[in-house]
Amino acid sequence: QPTSFDEEGGDDFVSKLKEQKKRIVIFYGSQTGTAEEYAVKIAKEAKARFGTSSLVLDPEEYEFDKLDALPADAVAIFVMATYGEGEPTDNAVKLVEHVAEESPQFTQGDNLESLKYVIFGLGNRTYEHYNKVARDLDSRLQELGATRVGERGEGDDDKSMEEDYLEWKDGMFEALAQECGFEEGGGGEVEDFEVAEIDDFEEDRVYQGELSARALLGTKGIHDAKNPYPAPIIKAKELFSLSGERSCVHMEFDIDGSGISYQHGDHVAVWPNNPEVEVERILAVLGLTEKRFTVIDVESLDPTLAKVPFPVPTTYDAIFRHYLDISAAAGRQAVNSFAKYAPSEAAKTELAKIGSDKAYFGKKVANRSLKLAEVLQIVAGDDLRAEPSKSTPWQIPFDRIISAIPRVGPRFYSISSSPKLYPKAVHVTAVVLRYQAADGGEYIHGLATNFISTLKQKYNQEQVDARIKSPYYNIEGPRGAYIAGGHLRAPIHIRRSTFRLPTSPKIPVIMIGPGTGVAPFRGFVQERVASAQKAIEKNGPEALKDWGKIRLFYGCRKSNEDFLYKEEWEEHKKALGETFEMHTALSREKFKPDGSKLYVQDLVWEQREAIAKDILDNKAYIFVCGEAAGMAKDVEATLVRILSEAKGSAEDGKKELQLLKSRSRLLLDVWS
Ligand code: 2AM
Repeated sequence: QPTSFDEEGGDDFVSKLKEQKKRIVIFYGSQTGTAEEYAVKIAKEAKARFGTSSLVLDPEEYEFDKLDALPADAVAIFVMATYGEGEPTDNAVKLVEHVAEESPQFTQGDNLESLKYVIFGLGNRTYEHYNKVARDLDSRLQELGATRVGERGEGDDDKSMEEDYLEWKDGMFEALAQECGFEEGGGGEVEDFEVAEIDDFEEDRVYQGELSARALLGTKGIHDAKNPYPAPIIKAKELFSLSGERSCVHMEFDIDGSGISYQHGDHVAVWPNNPEVEVERILAVLGLTEKRFTVIDVESLDPTLAKVPFPVPTTYDAIFRHYLDISAAAGRQAVNSFAKYAPSEAAKTELAKIGSDKAYFGKKVANRSLKLAEVLQIVAGDDLRAEPSKSTPWQIPFDRIISAIPRVGPRFYSISSSPKLYPKAVHVTAVVLRYQAADGGEYIHGLATNFISTLKQKYNQEQVDARIKSPYYNIEGPRGAYIAGGHLRAPIHIRRSTFRLPTSPKIPVIMIGPGTGVAPFRGFVQERVASAQKAIEKNGPEALKDWGKIRLFYGCRKSNEDFLYKEEWEEHKKALGETFEMHTALSREKFKPDGSKLYVQDLVWEQREAIAKDILDNKAYIFVCGEAAGMAKDVEATLVRILSEAKGSAEDGKKELQLLKSRSRLLLDVWS
């Protein structure tokens, strides 16, 4: 596995910079790898423009009292993602906290007047605290006397990250040249990797994806993002009772004996792989079909600039199936960089136009959500639905492919079970993502949910529904991979969250989660059921007398179609009695008097008196889970209305909501 920093040199980035005679140090606050990717992008372009190498560092590994000790001709670049509710990523906490201290200490004193810095933030506009981490760090650094070079860049992960970056970076590099004395005239594009096809290898040492690599090395120890656990699937079923195309999968992963533990409200990361059709497509487009199982070794030519993003030796097949995200929508920069390798002049001209003209790129690629190999295929004159042509492949050097396509990352799901009822299993509840591209054409299939759906089909040995025409009908490829030790498996690891019930059952709880937003609340209710059973065993049926109410607001379309875990709630009601209340909005079955749709927030509003009392008098906790832009915003507005009414003014209502948030009594687990 790639390591995130070189082992030598300890936590002193200034010495490291001086030793390596570099002038740029780039720190990335990254949770899923995007910020790191952008940090590397900046480093590469700095090298191409100025001929200057950078140190690209994980801030978790360094001490920030040295921020004032950079040489006068050096610059620090911060590439900072904002995560969750305006929080820094785990690896940036130390950096952010050091700088935010009331009077932070640095090696020479208490200011950063000697520091020149560049900052780029990665955020998501559907969340309330857009790019909060980068904005706060930027203003704090200035407060401490540091000088920003160029404008602060901000990228929106929801829509336009790459375009935001492209728009920002030229101005920033020009400012770097002017204000820090970097001179244009680097060597242009540089190679990151050396790729060699090898004959001399041990068959069982060749990496074939997370599962085989683990099985191969028998890796034990802590299972985390660098070492996912190949969890056996022990149950998989469809939750929607529809004959149509919508599907929601319930899946249980066995964690017995893995050393993995979890809490209700945690997330599980699932590592998907690419479907066989996409693997075949890119192999054909690159002329590698015949060589798919050739073993290759890859070495980084500058490990601080670019790490080999997968373990080696491996094969072309494994790289495209397990390690590189060939299913993602193509990026404009990557497309642009491949024009010179086109199989014909016409293809070259067309690809160069797509890569350099933003509007044309939107029309031809982005609005159709085309994948990189699809773009290359179309531009070379092939029909997408036909077998990609094998006669005129693109002659793209393989190191360019590794540099241009990001690593496949895990996808996170709110765990839908409680370890109190299911200590040895992690449950996932996932709607299978399938939607039409923006131009109304082809269907786009979400990588990980379709992967899960395919695992479900395999587990149950279901016939694949031909009408659905998911490209995922085959995730295995000619050599298989998903059965190990007699079990069908998927790689997983756990991410801790702060989404937790209050410890005392006396405190009331309000949970709002329509659709799969109900997932963590299934775990919450199970947690309460387990506690209730214990309490009743000990103190008799009176035990729940002074328990706070837990209210669940759930929403779906119709009671006989997509009502998740319908029978289970009835059972839980028996166990919890009066202390559990469930309110369900059936948006396509029960309407408001005026005929409009009834949603969870309308039911919350109906219960406003009880809710206001629980919040204001009984210190209730409120949890919201589900889609961010519509539902979570509307629910928040309803809560403000309720609190405003109770407090007597809109201003006090808003204040109360902010207070709830700052005291972590209003917690969100939302996605866009
Ligand atoms: P709809 O699809 O009928 O509009 C789970 O997806 C449930 O959430 C569905 O019943 C869906 O209703 C509903 N939903 C859609 N938008 C919503 C919003 N802004 N607020 C609350 N619920 C919403």
